[in-house]
Amino acid sequence: MKLAVWDTYVQKEDGVIMHFDILVPENITDTKIIYEYGEKYLKSKGLDLKITSSDSNYCHLEEMNSEQEKEIIENNYIILEMENCKDLKRIENREDIELLVNTFYDEVRKNDILGFIFDDVAKVNWDSHLPKLYSFWSSILLGENSFRGNPMIVHIGLSKMTDMTEVQFNEWVKLFTKTVDSLFEGSKAEEAKIRASNIAQVMLLRIESF
Ligand code: HEM
Repeated sequence: MKLAVWDTYVQKEDGVIMHFDILVPENITDTKIIYEYGEKYLKSKGLDLKITSSDSNYCHLEEMNSEQEKEIIENNYIILEMENCKDLKRIENREDIELLVNTFYDEVRKNDILGFIFDDVAKVNWDSHLPKLYSFWSSILLGENSFRGNPMIVHIGLSKMTDMTEVQFNEWVKLFTKTVDSLFEGSKAEEAKIRASNIAQVMLLRIESF
């Protein structure tokens, strides 16, 4: 017996789109039953949402492993959480921003492409750098208006000392996006990722045009 995979996207009230797969034995083809499984899963997350044919589509058949077989015998279906399904926090206050910034720069410092730029090239003083970044992101996401600085000049300066190309910026954005997704969900989290990517693009363009 194989498993049929139903690719499902459901929009929550805050606009965030949850993406999960509903896996059922291949002989279950009645969409009413399949959507009910999805709705049961959503209920377990406290979400009273209906699934329709525009939310969920048959994708493919796949082999069932022994773990999945056990789960199918118990529940008749399996949910595979893909995106925005975890009960993550929203970015709401300065404390959340501090968590985001601290986690991100912990990762940056460990990163082969970026870490040395902070610790060896710029020799960043983290005690003063991190509060600057808290203010930067609080100003962007919470309207705090507390950031005083000039990131463009700082990064153009850096590009004279080390490679600041598409490679470094792509890595920065990838890591930032991964950090946001591991900690937060919701509209501010989405905005953080978009703003970071846009700023990175503008920085790179400015560096390339110098
Ligand atoms: C290749 C990617 C990047 C690298 C290697 C990098 C590296 C650095 C370094 C080393 C500093 C500290 C400079 C110093 O204190 O002497 C710095 C400052 C800063 N970075 Fe980045 N950065 C990158 C991309 C970004 C992006 C995309 C953003 C914003 C979305 C950003 C926001 C900032 C801010 C706000 C500061 C403080 C600026 C100031 O003091 O006025 N950085 N960056």
